[in-house]
Order: sequence, then structure tokens, then C-alpha cells
Amino acid sequence: MSNPYNLLGGEAGVRNLANEFYNVMATRPDAKKIRLMHAENLNSVQNKLFMFLSGWLGGPNLYFEEHGTICLSSPHAKYSIGTKERDQWLECMDQALDNINASDELKEMLKIPMFNIAETIRNQK
Ligand code: HEM
Repeated sequence: MSNPYNLLGGEAGVRNLANEFYNVMATRPDAKKIRLMHAENLNSVQNKLFMFLSGWLGGPNLYFEEHGTICLSSPHAKYSIGTKERDQWLECMDQALDNINASDELKEMLKIPMFNIAETIRNQK
């Protein structure tokens, strides 16, 4: 079944994407602002992103099972996230998808939904 979770290679692929995403964030100079919003140690948020993406991409709903919700507005509410921060986040995700050699089909599938979810998290102009 070619949902995004399976196209990524299931659990290992999604974990790889979440890890690569924060590696990219930690190294891209233009993502410094959003990197500084995060704790110094990224292990916990890396795992939470993996759990969230697992369900969101069509696999097991790991984040929901642990937190009882998939709403990400509350955990982001204390950070000031405008279009600039949103776009930094999305650029890190694009680069992470490139770095893990995600297929063009998958990147195309995710483009609009990924923008939309980042846009729902934006809480500033
Ligand atoms: C739009 C720009 C975004 C910014 C600037 C941002 C920033 C942050 C920050 C600062 C944290 C807290 C990290 C920590 O505790 O060290 C966080 C947590 C998290 N972010 Fe984002 N984020 C953004 C978008 C997204 C998107 C689009 C997703 C999902 C596709 C996502 C998934 C998560 C998850 C799952 C957590 C952990 C939430 C929890 O504590 O349960 N974020 N984010």
C-alpha cells in the first residue's frame, strides 16, 4: 500500500526522517532561530516528531496513544512562530527528505499537507 508511511520504509524510515530533520535544523545557519527555540538536547523532541509523523503519515498512531491528542497547537503555543519560522521549519524538512533520498512521488505527496500543518502551528504574523 503506497501511503507515505510505507513509501518512507515504515518505522525505520520515519525514525530516520525525524532524526535527519533535527540534524539538518542543528546545522543549517538559516535555521538558527528555530534551533535556539529548542532544548539543547534534541533526543526527546526527535522521538516525539517520530511518533507524531508515524500516525500522520499513515502508520501507527503512536503520538495519539501517548498524549491522547494529535493537536500540536498547545505544545507550540509558548513559542513565537510566524511565517519566517514556519518557512525555516519547512526548509529543514525539504532538506531532510532530500538527504534521506525520499522519492519524488513522496515529496510531491507531502508538499501541500506539510505546508498546511506548519501553517496551523503558526501563531504570529
Ligand atoms: C512551524 C514551525 C515550527 C517551529 C518553529 C517548531 C518549534 C518547536 C519547538 C520549539 C518545540 C519544543 C521543543 C523542545 O521541547 O525542545 C516543538 C515541539 C514539537 N514539534 Fe514543532 N515546530 C514547528 C512546526 C512543527 C510541525 C509542522 C510539526 C509536525 C509535523 C511539529 C512537531 C513537533 C512535535 C511533535 C513536538 C513535540 C510536542 C510535544 O511536546 O508533545 N512541529 N516544535
